[in-house]
Amino acid sequence: MTFRTTLKTASFTPLALGLGLGIGIASALPLTPALANPCAAKACAQNPCCAKNPCAANPCTANPCAAKNPCAANPCAANPCAAKSPCAANPCAANPCAAAQPAELSDEQATREWDRLLPAMQTTYAKSGVPAAAQFFNWINVTKSPYPSSTHGDRYLVNIVNEKAKDYQKWEEAGILPAGAIVAKPTIVGKAGGKADIGPLFLMEKMSSGWNPQSLDWKYSMIMADGSLWGETKGRNSAGMTFCFECHNAMGAETDGLLFLPEEYRR
Ligand code: HEC
Repeated sequence: MTFRTTLKTASFTPLALGLGLGIGIASALPLTPALANPCAAKACAQNPCCAKNPCAANPCTANPCAAKNPCAANPCAANPCAAKSPCAANPCAANPCAAAQPAELSDEQATREWDRLLPAMQTTYAKSGVPAAAQFFNWINVTKSPYPSSTHGDRYLVNIVNEKAKDYQKWEEAGILPAGAIVAKPTIVGKAGGKADIGPLFLMEKMSSGWNPQSLDWKYSMIMADGSLWGETKGRNSAGMTFCFECHNAMGAETDGLLFLPEEYRR
């Protein structure tokens, strides 16, 4: 599953390479602001964890992530996670709301690094013992090239779906996906010099009807960059995972909790 073939035909604009790393992702990327920033497309008030985007001015106290997760409010670097915080048991980097302070990558760099890191991702995520984490490499990649996302810690993301989730590619018209549908979101984190490291793997798996109405029957899981399972709905650290569907439900009320990806990165 490399991106090379699509790169030949893709028509995205390469980044101006001269841009310094200090420039915010939102302003430096050639995305239309409405698509690059979920806050712009949706009401700001609905989007937690807006620290990195123009919505930062919007009081995050009103949103679920900030309330549930002290890391979102406290830069983890400065605050070594007070004992009461969910971060105490976890590396702060585990929190998708936490600022990852990644370096910026062009589409080409992100694609090259994805290809380079792919073998390592396969062995690392599989360590979690979560079946989908080992299987998704054979599924349908619905992403043109890894795209930046402020809502998952400013990482570069790829969305991959299994056969049962193929209607995901109908995007906003997808409707309710059937039980067994899985969307995997592996990530890489930009580093200086156009390089990247493996980031966490985010998973959503549709369970049977009535399994957990609160999460619209989605099981959310997060697997860390070292292959450990950080949490999953109704499983390990379930309480620490509620913020996933609090955001997804709020932003995707009309699309079964699905939020899709910026149009120019859809395939
Ligand atoms: C602050 C809001 C927010 C939080 C919290 C959040 N997400 Fe997301 N998620 C999004 C948005 C926005 C998208 C679509 C755009 C993108 O990829 O960034 C998305 C997309 C996804 C997708 C691809 C399926 C889809 O909806 O299109 C998966 C899988 C996913 N998130 C898993 C998770 C998991 C697991 C967690 C918790 C560990 C989580 N997310 C927490 C906002 C959030």
